[in-house]
Amino acid sequence: MSRDFPRRALWSACFLGVFGASSLFAAGNTGKELYSKECAACHQQNAKGQGIYPPLASLSKEQVVQKLKDYREGKGGDLKAIMEPYAKGKSDADFEALASYIVTLKK
Ligand code: HEC
Repeated sequence: MSRDFPRRALWSACFLGVFGASSLFAAGNTGKELYSKECAACHQQNAKGQGIYPPLASLSKEQVVQKLKDYREGKGGDLKAIMEPYAKGKSDADFEALASYIVTLKK
């Protein structure tokens, strides 16, 4: 163990304290809130979709995260232009939070 270990450990603890806590908070709280605010209008509150808006409740958590990452990078289906603005500007933690909430809607 190197001699500056305690100092480094302290720094990482600080780092985790600040960033870890805020992203944990985001994951716990905002999945549902974000979904209700930004996604339900098209995909429905129960994530069953409607019309041209695909259902999400049938996807796995990993699929939801991956698709959101794709949209953020400008990839997706024919209607990706509709989805892009809702994926752009969001973090991986936001996607995780959203996906964690969406899979709870699966019946
Ligand atoms: C304005 C309507 C609209 C809103 C709001 C919206 N979406 Fe979508 N979403 C779509 C459309 C249209 C598609 C199909 C896009 C395509 O062709 O790839 C889609 C596709 C998706 C898919 C991929 C589904 C699949 O089976 O491939 C996911 C996941 C998704 N949306 C999640 C979300 C999340 C999470 C939010 C909120 C942050 C959201 N959407 C907000 C319209 C919307």
